[in-house]
Amino acid sequence: MGDNMSYANKQLDEVKVFKDPVHRYVRVNDQVIWDLIATPEMQRLRRIKQLGATNLTFHGAEHSRFNHSLGVYEIVRRIIKKMETKPEWNKNERLVCLCAALLHDLGHGPFSHSFEKVFSLDHEKFTQQIILGNTGVNKVLAKVSDEFPQKVSDIINKTYHDKLVISLISSQIDADRMDYLLRDAFYTGVSYGNFDMERILRVMRPTTKRAVIKSTGMHAIEDYIMSRYQMYWQVYFHPVTRSAEVILTKIFDRVKHLYQSNYQFKEEPILFKNIFNQEIAVEDYLALDETVVYYYFQRWQYEADEILSDLAERFVNRRLFKYKEFDFESHIDKLTELKGLFTQAGIDPDYYLVIDSSKDLPYDVYRPDGAGRIPIYLQMPNKELKELSEHSAIVDSITGKVREDHKLYYPKDLIEVISDKAVKKKIENILSKSYL
Ligand code: NI
Repeated sequence: MGDNMSYANKQLDEVKVFKDPVHRYVRVNDQVIWDLIATPEMQRLRRIKQLGATNLTFHGAEHSRFNHSLGVYEIVRRIIKKMETKPEWNKNERLVCLCAALLHDLGHGPFSHSFEKVFSLDHEKFTQQIILGNTGVNKVLAKVSDEFPQKVSDIINKTYHDKLVISLISSQIDADRMDYLLRDAFYTGVSYGNFDMERILRVMRPTTKRAVIKSTGMHAIEDYIMSRYQMYWQVYFHPVTRSAEVILTKIFDRVKHLYQSNYQFKEEPILFKNIFNQEIAVEDYLALDETVVYYYFQRWQYEADEILSDLAERFVNRRLFKYKEFDFESHIDKLTELKGLFTQAGIDPDYYLVIDSSKDLPYDVYRPDGAGRIPIYLQMPNKELKELSEHSAIVDSITGKVREDHKLYYPKDLIEVISDKAVKKKIENILSKSYL
């Protein structure tokens, strides 16, 4: 008991400082945090980019999930420092909350978005497994106490008893979002993701159920919500990035298909085998990162299978698909016609004619049907809580409003060289029209 207590409370002899372009400095005082950062599972996050293929659109976006994880930890550390003096904050939650902040993205795979889609994986499940399984992270956490890994996992899983702690890691105004918006804006170089985080941290107040915002800070929150809205449409859903993701998804689809049809690979996808077979141990999952994926893509350019080699070459050399707005629900006949023409031209429509949709809900409140989200609350001067959109006309205007868009992706370069002139002309004619 004495030893365990001392590990939980153990402070480093000297504070460790990481230079960070977004928060200037990330400070580590706790031995536990320092030991967690050194685990192979945390270090793996250096080899997974925060924004996947976005660097093919915004070349600066090379930052990793490791950067982001340290950033979320640092924001939570600063929030706790401010809340520590308040009676609503339970001092015993400090370390477990910092650990959850640092480890919340541990289960992300390479190019998460496309990877999870093709293999029906869920990074949140892997985060839980890495924290609770036989890993370096689990060993460090278990040294604090037997229940400690489960507590960290419960916070990330949003089932923890202390709702205030959960709200710092996941809510509509949490450390995770604040970090990724600022960080992604910084590395992409766009100006719209910026908001005054220092101000938000100053006006954040603890209540037993969640963190709330002192009403005088409302404009900083409005700015944050608008930043998020802008970032989704300008960066996260950028059509060029989506084109790269479409190609990624189709490479994974093709490899899976070839593997299942006993195709003889020149470069066997050994590290993917258990994923294809849906027998994924934590070790298999942890062995995958973006360096591994890039290695295979390099090699698969030279496969005999034309579709795989073409798609791999496209991704490696950024030869992306072109796109156009396409409301497929009203124009399903045109899509069917295009598929037929592609097949006639010898271009497989399953891989080369792709509808991709994006959807975002910038802010939401509880709905009577049980849907919706936990809203952001403003704390008025009389301590009464008011839901943000009741008070802010700007936020009210986007509350509960889903924005959706659909695009059709296709390889213009392959269409240009179709030898059957009649088919080529028909395809080009269809693609020259508007389908909104
Ligand atoms: Ni995150």
